[in-house]
Amino acid sequence: MNIRLIPVFFVLFAACVPALCSRDEATAPVPGAETRSRFAALDDVRLLANGLLQLGQSLREFVQKTKGQINDILQKLNIFNHSFYQLSVLASEIKEEGEELKKTTVVLKANNEEIKGLSAEINSKVDNILQEKSQLQSKVEGLEKKLSSLSQGLVSSEQVAEINGLRAVIHSQEQSITELLKAVREQSNQINYQKTKIKTLEEKLTVDTSAQETIERTPEVFSSEPPTLKPFQTSDSSNTTEMNLPSDCSEMFIRGERASGVYVIRPNGSEPFMAYCDMSKDYGATVIQRRKDGSVNFDQTWEKYEHGFGDFQGEFWLGLRKVHSLTARSDSVLHIQLEDWKNCNYFIEYRFDLDGPGSNYTINITHLSGDLPDAMSNHTGVMFSTKDRDNDKHMDANCAHSHTGGWWFSACGDTNLNGKYFLIRPKGHSQRRRGVQWKSPRKASYSFKLTQISVHRMAPVSASSASSHADVFL
Ligand SMILES: *[C@@H]1O[C@H](CO)[C@@H](O)[C@H](O)[C@H]1NC(C)=O
Ligand SMILES: *[C@@H]1O[C@H](CO)[C@@H](O)[C@H](O)[C@H]1NC(C)=O
Ligand SMILES: *[C@@H]1O[C@H](CO)[C@@H](O)[C@H](O)[C@H]1NC(C)=O
Ligand SMILES: *[C@@H]1O[C@H](CO)[C@@H](O)[C@H](O)[C@H]1NC(C)=O
Ligand SMILES: *[C@@H]1O[C@H](CO)[C@@H](O)[C@H](O)[C@H]1NC(C)=O
Ligand SMILES: *[C@@H]1O[C@H](CO)[C@@H](O)[C@H](O)[C@H]1NC(C)=O
Repeated sequence: MNIRLIPVFFVLFAACVPALCSRDEATAPVPGAETRSRFAALDDVRLLANGLLQLGQSLREFVQKTKGQINDILQKLNIFNHSFYQLSVLASEIKEEGEELKKTTVVLKANNEEIKGLSAEINSKVDNILQEKSQLQSKVEGLEKKLSSLSQGLVSSEQVAEINGLRAVIHSQEQSITELLKAVREQSNQINYQKTKIKTLEEKLTVDTSAQETIERTPEVFSSEPPTLKPFQTSDSSNTTEMNLPSDCSEMFIRGERASGVYVIRPNGSEPFMAYCDMSKDYGATVIQRRKDGSVNFDQTWEKYEHGFGDFQGEFWLGLRKVHSLTARSDSVLHIQLEDWKNCNYFIEYRFDLDGPGSNYTINITHLSGDLPDAMSNHTGVMFSTKDRDNDKHMDANCAHSHTGGWWFSACGDTNLNGKYFLIRPKGHSQRRRGVQWKSPRKASYSFKLTQISVHRMAPVSASSASSHADVFL
């Protein structure tokens, strides 16, 4: 190993020395080809060294510069952190201030009440005094009359003294009254001042609270992702006009509408449609059927019963599809209102649910109340039938065909409010049983004059109580 190292060392030495003095010996005889290539390599090395040196310098410069920049950034970050910290301190301070303001407002309100009571008390006292004053005055007047009626010689010195005493009393009373009035005025001024103070405090409070809310909410914007929207909701929220539609007439009523008439409604999960709202009771009802004069032929096809027919101002059938969408809510109530030819009114109510087209609009009905006999609750599970779609339970006959009109026919002989409208009582039984009838144990085949079937929500929220509630806070 040692033997090998020595020549290598020599070669290195030989290569270094000429490199150091290459400039002085530029004219020196040209060395052998091998030596020259070695010199060239040495030049390269020198060049490389210089380059490296320069690179090192610029690197150092760069590092210095970067250091400065990093320091700068750190400083800025510190400032930012500081201001953020200050902001949060400020926010909490504002919150505290708001709480304090709230407390102060409460105290001031109590003070206000107290002052009000005081001023009422003073007012009643003033009234009393005024009354006393007028009594005294009339007494004095009487005495003065007496005095004038008597000759001067007859007035005793005691009477004069009495009169003078009364005058003094009246005078002092008047003085105390003016004082009291002054006090009352001052009190009312004080109350007014308190009121304005409370008002400004309340305004400040609302401003502060909103400022506080924005401060508190800002981080959420950045920390939470936007919510994922369901396709149905997306189409909803893109159209605000549709979004604001009431889901039924009950909601329309809750919103404060009191005029019966045609409105656009949109039950949950349904397309918007027009419906007649009956607002005459203390809730809103979506009318699904009305008979009143026989102007509309109710002997219609399945398609017509499904989509609805007639005239909202006269007679109509809203349509099974729409009624089905109305009962998507689990709290639907079916209200049936009938009027006979003696102008007597009857009604009956059922808890109500109507299946969709896939089940041929099977009805589910539970009796709730009313003065009509319950002729429908045993129809739960019955499908809707028309003359062109016989879904009734009668094996041999088509009830819709024999009774006319579409209905939840079970085995014919049933109630049918979509039957034939008779202005005069028909002669034969086969005709009569086609009438607008509600199965009654006593009256057989009676055809009613007026019918109205509507749907509303169970236990409706009374809008009048809601508005009075709002008044309390005004
Ligand atoms: C931000 O400032 C707070 C309060 O001044 C301090 O406690 C915290 O250590 C700082 N954070 C950073 C990352 O400098
Ligand atoms: C919203 O819906 C209404 C009624 O369906 C329609 O007339 C209107 O053009 C819609 N607007 C938008 C922005 O989609
Ligand atoms: C509307 O329907 C959806 C889905 O069936 C239900 O989650 C929501 O509670 C309903 N809204 C109302 C007001 O009935
Ligand atoms: C609905 O009615 C049609 C025609 O009357 C009938 O073919 C179909 O089976 C009924 N659907 C059900 C679920 O009973
Ligand atoms: C009818 O509705 C009631 C109450 O919602 C329910 O308990 C019952 O199962 C329903 N009946 C049928 C046959 O769907
Ligand atoms: C329902 O009850 C009435 C009498 O209350 C009866 O005339 C009718 O046939 C019954 N319907 C069914 C489907 O049981």
